[in-house]
Parts: sequence; C-alpha cells; structure tokens
Amino acid sequence: MIKDEIRQLCREKNAIIMAHYYTRPEIQDVADFIGDSLALAQKATTVDADIIVMCGVHFMGETMKILCPDKKVLIPDMEAGCSLADSCKAEDLAKFKAEHPEHMVVSYVNTSAAVKALTDVVVTSSNARKIVEQLPPDAKIIFGPDKNLGNYINSVTGREMLLWDGACHVHSRFSLEALIDLKKKNPDAPVLAHPECKAVILTQADKIGSTKALLDFAISSPQKRFIVVTESGILHEMQKACPDKEFIPVPPEATETVGCHCNECEYMRLNTMEKLLACLQTEQPEIIINPELATQALKPIRRMLEMS
Ligand code: 13P
Ligand code: SF4
Repeated sequence: MIKDEIRQLCREKNAIIMAHYYTRPEIQDVADFIGDSLALAQKATTVDADIIVMCGVHFMGETMKILCPDKKVLIPDMEAGCSLADSCKAEDLAKFKAEHPEHMVVSYVNTSAAVKALTDVVVTSSNARKIVEQLPPDAKIIFGPDKNLGNYINSVTGREMLLWDGACHVHSRFSLEALIDLKKKNPDAPVLAHPECKAVILTQADKIGSTKALLDFAISSPQKRFIVVTESGILHEMQKACPDKEFIPVPPEATETVGCHCNECEYMRLNTMEKLLACLQTEQPEIIINPELATQALKPIRRMLEMS
C-alpha cells in the first residue's frame, strides 16, 4: 500500500511529514503532524529529522526552511502556490513601504520569503490579534496582504492599520445567501468562520478563528451541529475528532457547479499520495532559499514566535 511505502521511506530517511488541515484526508492521515500555520511553524523549531516534507503550500515550505536551514525541506508539488501570497509582490510592498516611511509592516504568514524579509513581525490567523495588541498604541502599521483578516483585526483592536488589498480566492467566495439559508435550516448550529472570509460573512459567525481554533471550538462545544465557513479540508479532522457531531460546509457563490459544496483550495489539493511518495523517493522538489534572504525573513518569524 502506498501509505506503507511512504511510512517506510520516512523511517529509512529519518523524514517527517507535516500537513496543513486543508490537505486531502489521506495526506492528513499519513502525516506525523497536522496543524494550522502557527502550530506548523512552532513544530518546525522542535523537529528532530533530517528531512521535512511539508504538505501544504509553497510559503509553508519556505517558512519551514527559514526555521530549519540545516534540514532538507521538500514539498510534493512546487506549483502549490497561494492566491493570497501572490497578491503581494515584494517589489510592490517595498514601494508601498517607501511611500509610508513611518509605518511598520505586519505581514500574514501567507507571504513569500521576500515579503517576510521586508516585514517587522509576521502573524498567523491564530495570533494576529494578540500580536497587534502588543504593538505600541500609537504605532503606524501596514498590514498585508489579507484585507479581510486586517479588517477583522482592526475591528477587534480598534487600530487603523493600513490594509494591503489582497485576499484568498477560496475564502472570498463563500455565499452569504447560502450561509443565511443554512442558518435558517439549522438554527441550533453555531457558525465557525475563518477570518480570511469577507466581513459580511464574519458578521454571521459565532466563532472566528484559525483552522485549529475552529477545530478546538467544535471539540469543546456541547452543540452537535456546526456550519463551517472555511476550506472544506478541515472537515476531515473535525469529523475524526468529533464522530458524533455534524459539520455542514457552506458552498461558494453560484459558480461552475450548482449545489457544489466544494470550497477547496486547488493548491492544497495538489498534494497527492503519489507525489508525496515520489518526493520521498527522489528528495525533490526541494525548497532552496538564498541564505541572506532567509536570515532577513527569519527575524520577523522569530519575533512572531516570541510574541505568540
Ligand atoms: P490557518 O490554518 O493558520 O488558520 O491558515 C489558513 C490558511 O489559509 C492557510 O493557507
Ligand atoms: Fe492560500 Fe487561500 Fe489556499 Fe490558504 S486557502 S493556501 S490562503 S489560496
């Protein structure tokens, strides 16, 4: 079985598989560790392995490599990008910074190493509020690239951060109409939403948080049914952790497939068992980062870990 081959190679090569909650169920099941962006970064600092295979998207592999420069970091598919990270190019951010010389830069972890190198402190969806609240009250802040997360953090902290105009294509397309309809049909079900969703969706939510925070809420809640507004990969771990509970995914706005419940990130889905096996066999594709750039990018990631 392919799962056994993968595990065997991990033993032979002293490799560890890390996976994000949005990956395919079979990838999550074969992984040594599953987590949200913060947990994955925190785990990277303690991992004892020669090879890390990061099943997620490219920026996650880069974060691993920056945190573990002496380890070989592999990702199953180099094409696994992120529309949010792509919405902020380093050269554009550098220009924006030059136009706002008094501002510090807070960047979401969904950014390239080059953007992180221009950043003062990195945040994830699980620590953004906590970190922004620790910054001096009069600090002028550029927050990027997710305007939805930035807008949410502004609303809960009372800050007026300058927001980059970026967004995740998956989280931007949830249907408000479908969500309201699902709420009417399931009045007992709390709404769990990721802060990358639009403000109009977040106003309907009972719990807003990172993938891990939403999972923990579902585990500890006495409720039996939940409406979930984030990438549907998280449903696998929710269902595994709570077999007696029901999770109802919210569909995207009417698009290609009528009635489709597939709010899937196509980049995350590029991680397949076949590619994972090939990646362990060939030790390719490997994340390589210019060491100088990696040193610059490490500073705001370290700062995040200290402030978390
Ligand atoms: P978290 O798992 O940190 O909530 O991040 C979600 C995400 O969009 C990953 O790309
Ligand atoms: Fe990027 Fe959105 Fe996919 Fe997360 S779900 S990896 S933010 S494109």
